[in-house]
Amino acid sequence: MFESIERVPGDAILGLIEAFKNDSNPDKVDLGVGVYRDEAGITPVMRAVKEAEKLLIETEKTKAYIGSHGDPEYGADVLETVFGADSEVLAANRASATQSPGGTGALRLAADFIKSNLPGKSIWLSNPTWPNHLGVFGAAGLNIEKYPYVDADNRLDFDGMLAALKQIPEGDVVLLHACCHNPTGFDLSKDQWQQVLAVVQERSLLPLVDFAYQGFGDGLDEDAYGVRLLANTLDEMIITQSCSKNFGIYRERTGCFIAVAKDADDMEDVRSQLAITARENYSNPPGHGSAIVATIFNSDELTAMWREELDEMRGRINGLRSDFVKGLAPHGLDQRFAHVAEQRGMFSFTGLTPDHVAQLRDKHSIYMVKSGRANVAGLNSANLDYVCNAIADVVK
Ligand code: LMR
Repeated sequence: MFESIERVPGDAILGLIEAFKNDSNPDKVDLGVGVYRDEAGITPVMRAVKEAEKLLIETEKTKAYIGSHGDPEYGADVLETVFGADSEVLAANRASATQSPGGTGALRLAADFIKSNLPGKSIWLSNPTWPNHLGVFGAAGLNIEKYPYVDADNRLDFDGMLAALKQIPEGDVVLLHACCHNPTGFDLSKDQWQQVLAVVQERSLLPLVDFAYQGFGDGLDEDAYGVRLLANTLDEMIITQSCSKNFGIYRERTGCFIAVAKDADDMEDVRSQLAITARENYSNPPGHGSAIVATIFNSDELTAMWREELDEMRGRINGLRSDFVKGLAPHGLDQRFAHVAEQRGMFSFTGLTPDHVAQLRDKHSIYMVKSGRANVAGLNSANLDYVCNAIADVVK
């Protein structure tokens, strides 16, 4: 039977990991998959995470299932980090957390939840968006539509976005990136979030906010501005959250599906559906990552250590953004790439074309996503000039 099965190309982002590994050029540079890298090019285990793991070895009492909604302590920690300790939404018991296998798992829960409970609703994605949004929502059988996000000059096309949102059929779902837009790095200002909120209200849209990079833009609270604005104003929304990046626990698959409902009663109805969705997909989420996060939040000392490390990571990336633009100045390219310093998060939509990206890989062993998305965290003082010279070579 298997002889009739076709071979399909692998995932474009994850495939870069393998391609990079197989490249023997000692000067190779990985600006591909979205993992944080330090100055030595390593994706480190955060110190707070290591400390929490040491504690867990001593104190963990069981490896029994943690239930379809996951660890309640972890869920409470995530809700407080997302909404803030003094959140009215939390005080009113309007938000529910369902732990998921990473942010992708949360997205799949959201997709299945929409498919089963909101029949006929389409999901609207920014163009461009994280390519796997298309994969996850498509696999769940949802109808996918797109709204513009960048213009032909590779700048945020907010007018185009807003105009398109105003045309979305009432009641459809609109996916918004809370911060550190993947792949572009272009985030909405506070004023722009207010305008999006007005359209969401006018059209009775259901926002699904993907919140995978809290703390990587401008800070934990700053990055939550849009999420909190919507949650405090609207009756209903969905948030998909991830601890992969801000705790650096990518492979522990630690995320959360969050539903905000009109009241506690509606919230329990939604929550009951999520338990079934989780059960049918994977039964229970993995427990090690959530135990790490809960252990960190349980200790003031570890929480302070984690926040400091997160600040360091964000500071390093933002510093690299300006260094990159400065590094291109001797080539007369600083104006052309000035937007890189303004973007936020790990990614930059550089404006490099698929042809430039192919040349960077083939001639210089520099790896980035075909769309021109570069993981800025892959730059460091040892490779910055090399990358700037290579870019100058391919764009001229
Ligand atoms: C990325 O966009 O590179 C990350 O979110 C990793 C992934 O799963 O694609």
